Amino acid sequence: MNNYINIAIIGFGGRGTGLLQSEILPMCERDIRVVSVCDVYEDRAKRAADIVEKAGYPRPAAFTDYKEAIAVSGLKAVVISSAWESHLEVAMAAMKAGLQAATEVGGAYSVEDCWQLVRTYEETGKHCMLLENCCYGREELSVLNMVRSGLFGTIVHCAGGYHHDLRGEITYGKEERHYRLRNYINRNCENYPTHEFGPIAKVLDINNGNRIMTLNSVASCSKGLHEFVMRGEHKDTPLANVNFYQGDVVTTILKCQCGQTVVLTLDTSMARPYSRGFTIRGTNGFYCEDNYSVFLDEVHDDFIWSQNGMWGNAEEYVEKYKHKIWENYSAHGGHGGMDWLVLSAFFESVRTQTRPPIDTYDTATYMAITALSEQSIALSGATVFFPDFTRGKWYHRNDIEDTMFNLDKLEPFADLYQY
Ligand SMILES: NC(=O)c1ccc[n+]([C@@H]2O[C@H](COP(=O)([O-])OP(=O)(O)OC[C@H]3O[C@@H](n4cnc5c(N)ncnc54)[C@H](O)[C@@H]3O)[C@@H](O)[C@H]2O)c1
Repeated sequence: MNNYINIAIIGFGGRGTGLLQSEILPMCERDIRVVSVCDVYEDRAKRAADIVEKAGYPRPAAFTDYKEAIAVSGLKAVVISSAWESHLEVAMAAMKAGLQAATEVGGAYSVEDCWQLVRTYEETGKHCMLLENCCYGREELSVLNMVRSGLFGTIVHCAGGYHHDLRGEITYGKEERHYRLRNYINRNCENYPTHEFGPIAKVLDINNGNRIMTLNSVASCSKGLHEFVMRGEHKDTPLANVNFYQGDVVTTILKCQCGQTVVLTLDTSMARPYSRGFTIRGTNGFYCEDNYSVFLDEVHDDFIWSQNGMWGNAEEYVEKYKHKIWENYSAHGGHGGMDWLVLSAFFESVRTQTRPPIDTYDTATYMAITALSEQSIALSGATVFFPDFTRGKWYHRNDIEDTMFNLDKLEPFADLYQY
């Protein structure tokens, strides 16, 4: 009996292939073994098996049906890097087969799917961890430390966005066999909330002392993709006649039970530079990703701020408040090291049979934003109620442990009426 963590990986587009090459294969030097791989496209499944074999490890079995891939004996976990539509279906099948699941990011298609995910965890004891790598970003981890140290006072408001010009990726979806194109044609929602919301959720103690109560989303008109198509190689193809249903900018407001507001912005189909717009507003100060600044009461003066060229001063604070996770685990690999950390966090939870730091309740909550935003947009921005997937556990969590990659507050929520 060996101590390998045998895994299946589902989905080998750019992300699955990148994770395999840059993170998972180096982790095989320790105790990970890729024993089955799957993609609905046979060539991609075969290419993944080739990559593992060429790296000197036993050739994994290659499948085009995920059910066969997760039925291979001896598996402990599954990593899902397939298209958005398949994430929860594959995760729940894996959990029911006794495997711990980790899924790449993306939103849910229905709130009921999120509830089913939670029920599947409660019935099987197997978690589904959302691989929200941005929770492990260097700056995000330092800011979490600043918040927990009280640097900004009481947190009142947070903002974040997925500002990423994806016009090429979306409109070349047919050639690249990529899932975004069909989503942008057929849906109008906050389709990618978790890169910005994951770190904010940990700052605001969502599901561990706080919860989201309501959501409102409004979508702008859709112009960016069509104009991009008409200027490029696709102008004489059927894509020129497509009315993209997805609005160019989707603005979502969340209201939390502890009073904070959160604004999320999806912004992926017009010209602009990349940013996740991570912004924290506390009573004594703020952090702002877009100009990389920390402003503190009684330290900085708002009038001399710009004259003295103070914008862009955050590095000093990010370094000073370096999170122990960043300090202790040499992060490398994709996206500045956060891909390495999020996968390490998942495998550590499998290894030690502990709750993953982004657990099933978090996964359901973060992913539900997409489904709820679709409802709110369809109702012209109407307020929709946000389900409590913990069913009341959020105010008396007793399963938060001081694990290596834990992101949650450890001290119990100050519930005066607890007895
Ligand atoms: N965390 C990050 O920084 C990051 C970066 C890029 C992509 N992603 C996420 O990774 C995922 C994949 O993105 P991508 O760009 O590689 O997409 P992609 O479309 O290029 O690849 C997805 C692959 O999944 C396969 N697939 C779809 N349904 C399947 C199913 N039921 N069974 C087996 N295979 C299936 C497709 O054939 C395709 O090869 C998405 O969820 C995306 O949001 C995350």
